[in-house]
Amino acid sequence: PRCIWLTRHGESTDNLIGKIGGDAPLSGRGKKYGDCLSRFIQHQRQENEKSRRVEAEAGMAISPLRERTVAVWTSMLTRTKETVEGFDPKEYDIKHIRFLNEIYAGICEGLSYSQIENEYPEEFEARRVNKLFYRYPGMGGESYLDVIQRLNPLIIEMERMTSDLLIVTHRVVLRILLGYLMDIDRSKMPEMDVHLHTLYCVEPKPHGTVVKKYRWDE
Ligand code: G3H
Repeated sequence: PRCIWLTRHGESTDNLIGKIGGDAPLSGRGKKYGDCLSRFIQHQRQENEKSRRVEAEAGMAISPLRERTVAVWTSMLTRTKETVEGFDPKEYDIKHIRFLNEIYAGICEGLSYSQIENEYPEEFEARRVNKLFYRYPGMGGESYLDVIQRLNPLIIEMERMTSDLLIVTHRVVLRILLGYLMDIDRSKMPEMDVHLHTLYCVEPKPHGTVVKKYRWDE
């Protein structure tokens, strides 16, 4: 694609109380971020359309004809789906994909980091020491490496896309996708700063990848 937009979901009610995992809805602020995101992407599309028209009118359509559609991918969780509620499904190709779900924290789902530290001090320490390899205990519990693995087919699909793409996902998945696109070593991925209400625009260029970062200014 010409441009890959990436963001975490808007703030959820669990973000407010510091709980990880689960399937919480958006907070009021989170909803506002979703609204702002859809308006911003719509604006970007209109700008692209304008420059395409100018090129065509001048007989200078040197860039290949761009597809007008923007694909929108979210995870299967409520907070990412709610973040894209403002996108018109007639204008955007919206898909919800399980591979984009957040790391599954097994027995730690629904707990805060301080609760994990109190209830499972050994687990907390083991993760602190090696976050990349650490797999949460319990059925379906995952490690960063497991998430990297499950994202592989999606990365292939992402590279093949010809339309622009917006991905709305979660902290761990965003670290991995951004890390991949920016060629960051996987050992550094678990510590990458990826804040809420921040939109990344990644453009693959012949001289390297250009990354722009937009912070929502409430
Ligand atoms: O629910 C999961 C958190 O967003 C993961 O963040 O890998 O830094 O603990 P973490």
